[in-house]
Amino acid sequence: MRGYKAFDNKQELARFAAKMWLDRLALTDPNRPFTVALSGGRIPKLFYQEVTELAHPSVFKNVHFFWSDERLVPPTDDESNFKLADERLLSPLGIATDQIHRVLTEYDESKAIQVVTDDLMRFTKTNENGQPVIDLVFLGMGEDAHVASLFPGDTEAVVSKDVYRVVTGPKPPSRRVTLGYSALIAAREVWVLASGQGKAEALRSSIAVSSITPLARVLQGREKTEILTDFTL
Ligand code: 6PG
Repeated sequence: MRGYKAFDNKQELARFAAKMWLDRLALTDPNRPFTVALSGGRIPKLFYQEVTELAHPSVFKNVHFFWSDERLVPPTDDESNFKLADERLLSPLGIATDQIHRVLTEYDESKAIQVVTDDLMRFTKTNENGQPVIDLVFLGMGEDAHVASLFPGDTEAVVSKDVYRVVTGPKPPSRRVTLGYSALIAAREVWVLASGQGKAEALRSSIAVSSITPLARVLQGREKTEILTDFTL
């Protein structure tokens, strides 16, 4: 099942998503950690801006920030998804460092994955498949219907049960860490912010029955996923 909402432009998409998130946080138990996983790309810049404009920092006091995927670059690199969030969301909101669980890309890949997976498991319940139940995962979608850093043709990813895995993808920077399909399927909520006129076909193909795009695999594995777009199907 999908919730689908199309907006006239990316600004309206970003603002709605920000309001939706703040409304969700208002309903949660402030004494229980709320885990969120952030993606990279262009739409998060607008989304973060809207969140910081709308939100009182106190609503995030028990939110723990993870990433749906991260490029294997230093945290100071302009290509870092952590840096994007830190500059436009985490620092402006004054999020405490112990709530921020970035992928430690300065470590070797296997250690970076181990540390962030252990962290994630500490803050989430585990489902029957041993996967963390992340409260809310934000995904973008590429023109090839990739989500996080799960790309078409990555057959290993399809069968992997790893919570996080290292991939070499076609989108530069190519070496990345990404949540696996099982973790995306296990999440309590997944919201896809698909922005860009050239993506309508990728989304159409992903909602088709028996599609095998990365987004399709997530949609087919889950009961419900929200899809917000700035284009019409
Ligand atoms: C990344 C992202 C990636 C992104 C999509 C959409 O780190 O590159 O997580 O999955 O969300 O490629 O990016 P745009 O919003 O820029 O189209």
